[in-house]
Amino acid sequence: MSAATPNRVALVTGGNRGIGFAACRKLAGLGYTVLLASRDRMRGVRAAEQLQQLGSVLPVTLDVAAPDAGDTLRRVIAANGGRLDALINNAAILIDENRRILDADFGDLQRTLETNVYGSLRLAQAAIPIMRKQGYGRIVNVSSEMGQLAGMGDDSPAYRLSKTGLNSVTTMLAAATRSDNILVNSCCPGWVRTDMGGLQASLTPEEGADTPVWLATLPDGGPTGGFFQSRRAIAW
Ligand SMILES: NC(=O)c1ccc[n+]([C@@H]2O[C@H](COP(=O)([O-])OP(=O)(O)OC[C@H]3O[C@@H](n4cnc5c(N)ncnc54)[C@H](OP(=O)(O)O)[C@@H]3O)[C@@H](O)[C@H]2O)c1
Repeated sequence: MSAATPNRVALVTGGNRGIGFAACRKLAGLGYTVLLASRDRMRGVRAAEQLQQLGSVLPVTLDVAAPDAGDTLRRVIAANGGRLDALINNAAILIDENRRILDADFGDLQRTLETNVYGSLRLAQAAIPIMRKQGYGRIVNVSSEMGQLAGMGDDSPAYRLSKTGLNSVTTMLAAATRSDNILVNSCCPGWVRTDMGGLQASLTPEEGADTPVWLATLPDGGPTGGFFQSRRAIAW
C-alpha cells in the first residue's frame, strides 16, 4: 500500500478457523486492519490473539445467519473508523454431505441457505452503501465448484444449491455496483484441509485463501461478476 492509500479495512466472516483464518493472516500481513468475525465471541478472541503480532486484527462477533447481521456489520464498521474496503463472505456450513437430491431435507436446505446465501447477501447489502461512499470496495463470495451448473452432481443438495445461489447473488451484486468501483466476485478455494474439507484434501488453508485474498485486493479496473479458482476464471 502506498502512503497515499488509506488504511484499508477488511472483514472476514468465519475468520476464526480454516480458510477464513488463513485469509485474516494474509490480509494482516498486507497491512490491512482485519475485522476477524466469528459467531462465537471467545473463538474469535482466541483466533485474533494468534495474529495480533502481524498487525491490527480485531475480533468481532457476527453470526451471519442472524436476521440482524447487516445491522451488526454497520455497527461494527461505525465503531471501527467507518471504513470497509473488503468483505470476504467466507462463513458457510455443509450439513448434508450424505444426502442426495431425491431425499433432500427441507430443514437442511433452509438452514444452509440462511447461512451460505442469505448471510452473504445481508452483509453485502450493509457493506455496499459504505463502499459506495468511499468509492472503493471489494466483495468476495467464497463459493465452491460444487455449485457449478457445469458438472453438477446429486450429492450434498443443500450445499450445492446454496453455492449456485451464492454465485447468482455475486452476478446480481456486480450488476448493481458496476459503476461504483466495487468489484464483486465468487471463487472456489479448491479442496482444502479444514474441518469442512477433511484431512485428505490437497491444499493447505493458506493455499485455499490465496484466490479469496487476491480478489479482495484487486486493483481498480479488475474483474467483477466472475467466478475464479487458482486466480483463473472458471465456468459457472
Ligand atoms: N474446505 C474446502 O475444501 C472447501 C472447498 C470449497 C469451498 N469451501 C468454502 O470455503 C469456505 C470456508 O470453508 P472452510 O473449509 O474453512 O470451513 P470450516 O473449516 O468448516 O470453517 C467454517 C467457518 O464458518 C463459520 N460459520 C459457520 N456458520 C456460521 C455463521 N452462521 N455465522 C458465522 N460464522 C459461521 C464457522 O464458525 P464456527 O467455528 O463457529 O463453526 C467457521 O469459522 C466456505 O464458504 C466453504 O463452503 C471450502
